Amino acid sequence: MSVLLSPKPVILTGDRPTGNLHIGHYAGSLKNRVALQHSHEQFILLADLQAFTDNADNPEKVRRNVLEVALDYLAAGIDPEVTTICVQSALPALAELTFLYMNFVTVSRLERNPTIKSEIQMRGFERDVPAGFLCYPVSQAADITAFKATLVPVGEDQAPLIEQTNEIIRRINRQTKCGLLPEAQALIPETGRLPGLDGKAKMSKSLGNALPLAATSEQIRDAVRRMYTDPDHLRACDPGKVEGNVVFTYLDAFCEDRALVDDLKTRYRRGGLGDKAVKKQLEDVLDALIRPMRERRARYAAEPAYVLDMLKHGTNKARERTQATLDEIRAALGLFAF
Ligand code: TRP
Repeated sequence: MSVLLSPKPVILTGDRPTGNLHIGHYAGSLKNRVALQHSHEQFILLADLQAFTDNADNPEKVRRNVLEVALDYLAAGIDPEVTTICVQSALPALAELTFLYMNFVTVSRLERNPTIKSEIQMRGFERDVPAGFLCYPVSQAADITAFKATLVPVGEDQAPLIEQTNEIIRRINRQTKCGLLPEAQALIPETGRLPGLDGKAKMSKSLGNALPLAATSEQIRDAVRRMYTDPDHLRACDPGKVEGNVVFTYLDAFCEDRALVDDLKTRYRRGGLGDKAVKKQLEDVLDALIRPMRERRARYAAEPAYVLDMLKHGTNKARERTQATLDEIRAALGLFAF
């Protein structure tokens, strides 16, 4: 007897393997991926080719971090039984799609992409931007469409890339007149981007203001202790400011007990609640979040052969899926198959 199951909606996301993931990644995207992995068919891409677009001088770093980030996924609670984790560079259909899509986007459109603009500035590329870097949004469109993903859980900095993807999808659909590719929707958390431990707008390993997913209890305690609060809140009895106070921003992002956070805010604003007490709460919340991740990570790290095998299986499954989409697009564009 054949059973017809309505297919689950498809999620595709990815990360550049350039360093370990941190709690900013968790708040921005990993938490959603863990929550949605059973109700969706989920693929996660270790985007090593995208990492090459600004790390071509350090392939060893990228290679090492493919395994590190895979461990971070497993640590965060991504279940390899239901989520397919795969390696971008081992999926040739993505490269071919990228090359096709290049003709459906203009250089000036790529140069106007706000994410690319600020990344070029941050990296000091100015006039020396690698062609691959300028074109990585096209490769990201290939990633998303090759899986026919309709949902992409990402941090808010990625929104312009999903917009760019949808523009390419519309161009391809118009050209092939067959509505082959579904549009993709970014899933961005309401809490917004998590600031760094120092209060700077972005948490990033390279800025030294990140808390890794595998942080020890001592690292957590130390990080929270040094955290920026309200500079005018000198004594516990003074009224304090909650807005822009990193400790409260983190409590908002990570504490599930809303009533507790609201109560702390009220007492802090009124005066009489010291930074030390609020920080202790945050430390407990972060430790409860990170401890199971740290333990899971250690268990998987002790079995590198298992992790490699999981990546191999995931990549093989993704290879079939992406090749099937490429074949459809090639046919729709009238390319010879022979
Ligand atoms: N650009 C993403 C980042 O910098 C990584 C990425 C690659 C991605 N391919 C993707 C994200 C496809 C979402 C969908 O982290």
